[in-house]
Amino acid sequence: MSQDLNKKSAAEAALAFVEAGMVIGVGTGSTVNYFIDALIKLKEIIDGAVASSEATAKRLRQQQIPLLDLNDTGDLPLYVDGADETTKDLCLIKGGGGALTREKILAAASKEFVCIADQTKLVDVLGAFPLPVEVIPMAKSYVARQLAVLGGRPIERKGLTTDNGNLILDVHDLKITDPKAAEESIDHLAGVVSNGIFARRPADILLLGTDEGVKEF
Ligand code: A5P
Repeated sequence: MSQDLNKKSAAEAALAFVEAGMVIGVGTGSTVNYFIDALIKLKEIIDGAVASSEATAKRLRQQQIPLLDLNDTGDLPLYVDGADETTKDLCLIKGGGGALTREKILAAASKEFVCIADQTKLVDVLGAFPLPVEVIPMAKSYVARQLAVLGGRPIERKGLTTDNGNLILDVHDLKITDPKAAEESIDHLAGVVSNGIFARRPADILLLGTDEGVKEF
């Protein structure tokens, strides 16, 4: 089966977690786009959605799903988002779409985080996917030097300004054997807004679209 079909089936399986009256946190990316398209069926019973990016907000608006502000909703019952890599214990690398900071805020503010991904995203050790790090523009060179000290090879993502007006450094050559420690040490660098390791607040449930159907971890 194609990767796209596996993304779509994982996304559709996440509908089972949506309940009447919920405000749903919605992530960013191609798998989430399938989720938004499927969510149309339930748009009359939910109270609305909070978007993790301008791109997701646009798609939710197009589907006439009411958009709400996290500052008005309080904590959310459910957050649904994709991943660039996931381990079986549900630690993730995210931010391939550049939306990692708002995604991390929504994950933190949600009671249940359901990750939807196709089978190619499952790894034993995080880090083959270059780790996105959102950086304040004036700190770019300083942070890049510090990331090199940590053993990474940071490359600026050209032509991308995040929704928060910052830059992304994609860090190659990291083997992230202790995701919580790595997440913390990178976050502590001055000038880093956030990094794409989701280990302190991992997903709660992984719906993995595979050629044999959707597997739940
Ligand atoms: C967006 O910033 C990312 O965190 C996405 O969740 C991740 O890149 C997964 O994207 P796809 O669903 O397009 O593979």
